[in-house]
Amino acid sequence: MKCRVCRGPAVIDIRRHNAAFCGDHFVTHCREQVKRAVHEHKMMDPAERVLVAVSGGKDSLALWDLLTDLEYAAEGLYLGLGIDGYSDESLQHTRAYASSRGLKLHEVDLGQDDGFTIPVAASVTHRAPCGACGLSKRHLFNSFARDHGYDVVATGHNLDDEAAVLLGNVLRWETGYLGRQHPVLPTALGFVRKVKPLIRLGEREMAAYCVIRGIDYQVEECPMAEGNRHLGYKEVLNALEDRSPGAKAAFVFGFIDRAHPLFSTSADEERAALGACESCGSPTTTGSLCAFCRLQERAASAPEAAE
Ligand code: AMP
Ligand code: FES
Ligand code: ZN
Ligand code: ZN
Repeated sequence: MKCRVCRGPAVIDIRRHNAAFCGDHFVTHCREQVKRAVHEHKMMDPAERVLVAVSGGKDSLALWDLLTDLEYAAEGLYLGLGIDGYSDESLQHTRAYASSRGLKLHEVDLGQDDGFTIPVAASVTHRAPCGACGLSKRHLFNSFARDHGYDVVATGHNLDDEAAVLLGNVLRWETGYLGRQHPVLPTALGFVRKVKPLIRLGEREMAAYCVIRGIDYQVEECPMAEGNRHLGYKEVLNALEDRSPGAKAAFVFGFIDRAHPLFSTSADEERAALGACESCGSPTTTGSLCAFCRLQERAASAPEAAE
């Protein structure tokens, strides 16, 4: 296996591109893919202040690394979710990376700053923790960015993540979610723009990127996400990709180019009908209190919250 660029020994092959790369040229390839995604979807420009949501996992650390090398002024935000045996370790990985590169990292701790943790939220809602977790992350990424004057929030969602979410949305014809599934969600009243610059790169590529760049990331997956539907969708998509390399990319990029516009009207209408939460000022469609403030209220009254 030889590098497509220099013909030296390759360290990774990417079947959907029908190409293999040596370490250096693979890093260049990843930068080019991020540049292309940013440009194609007009995600941001170099003068803007970028907040990268960093979990300590491979994707978000690689994203921070790539954006910094592409000369974006990117600061990190880590959210402590209060998950035993997982959150502490992911924070250590995030801090170690930030200090090794001299980057500014902000930390928000859900338990200390908002009065509840994800395990408590999951027990009061009697639902899978990922629902309360996703809601809290979206809320806090946005409110932190808005309150601190960032122009854009970048997350480490990669091609595999987007393909799995898309498959889930299509299987249930969630037209509202399909309208909101896009690598760029524009700035709107109360919302800071959200972007996914890793949309052109897969999970395996991000792991290889971290190894090549010497980035020590949290390898363990979240223990609370076990049995999560998306993990099953990823397996199905990997089997498809194995048979026909490029299937995932065709699925996701075909959706973005040709199908998303068919669903975006309902998302636009929803945005136009947003009100402001009476407690925190965040945008909401659900009445006087936003979903995050309601969750916080319920969690505060739960016996577990006092523990
Ligand atoms: P996940 O929802 O866990 O698949 O994560 C998707 C993206 O959300 C990651 O790539 C990060 O950008 C961001 N993210 C997830 N967990 C955290 C966290 N605890 N703190 C900050 N950002 C996070
Ligand atoms: Fe959200 Fe595990 S990271 S439930
Ligand atoms: Zn090479
Ligand atoms: Zn609120």
